[in-house]
Amino acid sequence: MSKQILCLPGDGIGPEIMAEALKVLDAAKLRFGLDIEVSHGLVGGAAIDHHSVPLSDETLALARNSDAILFGAVGGPKWDDQPMANRPEKGLLQLRSELDLFANLRPAILFPQLAEASSLKPELVAGLDILIVRELTGGIYFGEPRGIRTLENGEREGYNTYVYRESEVRRIAKVAFEAARKRGGRLCSVDKSNVLEVTGLWREVVIAESAGYNDVELSHMYVDNAAMQLVRAPKQFDVMVTGNMFGDILSDCAAMLTGSIGMLPSASLNEKNQGMYEPVHGSAPDIAGENKANPLAQILSLAMLLRYSFGEGIAADAIEKAVSDVLGKGYRTGDIASEGCQLVATVEMGDAVVDCLLNA
Ligand code: IPM
Ligand code: MG
Repeated sequence: MSKQILCLPGDGIGPEIMAEALKVLDAAKLRFGLDIEVSHGLVGGAAIDHHSVPLSDETLALARNSDAILFGAVGGPKWDDQPMANRPEKGLLQLRSELDLFANLRPAILFPQLAEASSLKPELVAGLDILIVRELTGGIYFGEPRGIRTLENGEREGYNTYVYRESEVRRIAKVAFEAARKRGGRLCSVDKSNVLEVTGLWREVVIAESAGYNDVELSHMYVDNAAMQLVRAPKQFDVMVTGNMFGDILSDCAAMLTGSIGMLPSASLNEKNQGMYEPVHGSAPDIAGENKANPLAQILSLAMLLRYSFGEGIAADAIEKAVSDVLGKGYRTGDIASEGCQLVATVEMGDAVVDCLLNA
């Protein structure tokens, strides 16, 4: 039976970069004889425009019934005046929550060809290969109560709740330990246990879980120090595991070390290995529709999808190699451009990857 991908391009540059990823998927189907069907849905602002909500029941049902989801990006100034509960980002958060996609894997790998594009000195980032494992369905993003209330004196007060249950920490710690075991054997858990009880419990549970992983070296770091270490000496890290909000922040930071956030894919998995795959970057409304966006993070997200959800490691490797080859040829979108490079548009970059994939 053919495998089903639900494709949710979203807003801003989402549709443009998705079109390139789908071209690459077609090429991969051709080369590797993959039996994959693609369906399409609206999410985020695009869904608000058509259905008044950022994720319709129909799209959610399609998502539940698909084997994997390829997601673009959501949000933009057009929907900035939507109430918090109906913002484009809610569509993404709802998908994560409804499908229980608790394990967010965000690799930050430096393609050697891009060492010059990093904001750090090339020697600090050469060979960089970090995996950030971010808890994605709990923490302060989803904690209740939340809201804005008016106090007796008439002043308004905003509040959110930072909560983690032991079971939530345990399952994400397990994913991180397993990943570390398959990679460099080192795991750094990031918390703020000197101030926040919730992350004190986080640390306790991670330590308890480490008993089953004697082959993994566990360390702990406060989040402020982790942010500093990421820009001071990022190669000290192998796998990092952290909660939802710290992971959001640290993964943008790690992404930039690789030259451009436009290069980084991510996977969000549930216990059944059903997954949603999306670039780490956002919808970049400032360049939307201009054929300028870098489609490589979306294309690399497709590679992750094939590897993690469909077990098609060979096709995934080939797509990643095609991306590397294209960079080797000097092709660059504006975000990763450097002197002497061949500046290309979104569509040309996609074409170049397809060409490398088919003519390897
Ligand atoms: C991300 C994004 C999202 C998040 C937004 C768009 C809701 O920043 O995936 O990192 O905060 O998780
Ligand atoms: Mg983010």
